Amino acid sequence: PRGPVKNICCIGAGYVGGPTCAVLAWKCPDIKVTITDISEERIAAWNSEELPIFEPGLDAVVKEARGRNLFFSTDVDGSIAAADLIFVSVNTPTKEAGIGAGLAADLCYVEAATRRIATVSKKGAIIVEKSTVPCRTAESMRKILEAVSPSTDASFEILSNPEFLAEGTAIEDLLDPARVLIGAMPTPGGQLAQQRLAEVYARWVRPEAIITMGLWSSELSKLAANALLAQRVSSINAIAAICEKTEANVHEVSSACRLDLRIGSKFLEAGVGFGGSCFQKDLQNLIYLSLSLGLPEVAEYWKQVLVMNAWTKRRFSKDIVQKMFSTITSKHIAVLGFAFKADTGDTREAPAIDVCRDLLEDGAVVHIYDPKVSEASIDRALMAKGACSHTATKGKGYIVEPSMQQACAGASALVFMTNWTEFSSKQVDWKAIYQSMSKPAFIFDGRNVVKDVEALKKIGFSVYKSGVGY
Ligand code: UDX
Ligand code: UDX
Ligand code: ADP
Repeated sequence: PRGPVKNICCIGAGYVGGPTCAVLAWKCPDIKVTITDISEERIAAWNSEELPIFEPGLDAVVKEARGRNLFFSTDVDGSIAAADLIFVSVNTPTKEAGIGAGLAADLCYVEAATRRIATVSKKGAIIVEKSTVPCRTAESMRKILEAVSPSTDASFEILSNPEFLAEGTAIEDLLDPARVLIGAMPTPGGQLAQQRLAEVYARWVRPEAIITMGLWSSELSKLAANALLAQRVSSINAIAAICEKTEANVHEVSSACRLDLRIGSKFLEAGVGFGGSCFQKDLQNLIYLSLSLGLPEVAEYWKQVLVMNAWTKRRFSKDIVQKMFSTITSKHIAVLGFAFKADTGDTREAPAIDVCRDLLEDGAVVHIYDPKVSEASIDRALMAKGACSHTATKGKGYIVEPSMQQACAGASALVFMTNWTEFSSKQVDWKAIYQSMSKPAFIFDGRNVVKDVEALKKIGFSVYKSGVGY
């Protein structure tokens, strides 16, 4: 019989596996937690002073638990073999080629990890899907486990335990989650495994937040939650477009909507669109799933959320060009913030990538500053989108700057792409920035960073904010 969980292995030391299992280890000192990854570089970083991801509060958690009951290792097989519970937190990117290209999740990493589990795990190990996966992935995992396992009486239990943490607030989200879903098959073995994982979370999570349900509901809940959140952002961005043409102000409109408890107050911040590793990918998964199930109307409905997001980014770039007298060739433009949102160094699907690409294609010299994104990450992100300058005579066409002030010096416009608090800090000397810029000096605020537009106008800036009638 399955006893309480004593040894946990996490496969994949990324944005999901790393923080999730670090918090688990911190909260459960008597459980040995080993986070593994095939990337030696990533594991070395987790074992160093400079963690591979920036996340407020993560350093302290890792420092306290690391070496006590939290370990980072490239010995994937050895860690799987010792574990009685295995989290699968590998990446599930969108397929770039083949059937379902551009929509379906590429499950090759999930499959590879599952094959290692089948080959080396101990009898009765509980396997937990943590990565976001398309609905019914657990079924494929079970088939692989049963076919590959060398043992004839191996009894694998697969649970779905999707992660709802948001980057930037990952540690708070993990310490006090709105809910922990644990999906299992309705068999005695499934129920016991569900109970064992629930006991682990019960060490620190409110009992009413730990919710058990069927495996397929749990898998689909993650896609549904992200689709609904993304849909709210696209909805308010659609309203923002109407505001700009009618002299309504989207911030006034959204604050009115927020007061209706049925609508709720969150995720109504209009701007340049959503980014991040989840929204786009999960919507694509949902669209692909709907199509596979013969539900084209449902697929079409969710597709519009992505269409609106892409259009919102493009519209922002077009506005910049148009307001700057329809030409930005050779003009210097400061792009402030590159991460997909504040408090993270992550650039996956960041709206800044698309906007920088558009500005570069139109011939601008782009000066990028982000407090947490490295030059190497910016290079990788822009390269992957094929962003390059047609007119830049030397270098990449963009320059990564060490500060907001340096990015703005000599620029004709500054563009806010991430709402880092330092951009709206009282310390910012707007007069000095204005003086250092080429005139007329424009501000394009895609993230509602600027609160006192009048003060900036008084200094001399021309200020444009997404979703506000000009
Ligand atoms: C609505 C608005 O709620 C109200 O604020 C506005 O002033 C007028 O329009 P009403 O049409 O009276 O009010 O009813 P409401 O409770 O909003 O329901 C509208 C429809 O949506 C009903 O057919 C209801 O059955 C349906 N509905 C509502 C659902 O199908 N699911 C839900 O979760 C909620
Ligand atoms: C999201 C979900 O929130 C989380 O529960 C899930 O586990 C993973 O996906 P994350 O992508 O980290 O988390 O960030 P989130 O805060 O949801 O923001 C996503 C994007 O939407 C960001 O680019 C953000 O700037 C944008 N956004 C969010 C808006 O444009 N307006 C809003 O009102 C809220
Ligand atoms: P997420 O945001 O979902 O956490 P990441 O890309 O940040 O995604 O992390 C996923 C991690 O999983 C990567 O560091 C990758 O090297 C690791 N990984 C992928 N396949 C395997 C595997 N078979 N065994 C161990 N680690 C793996």
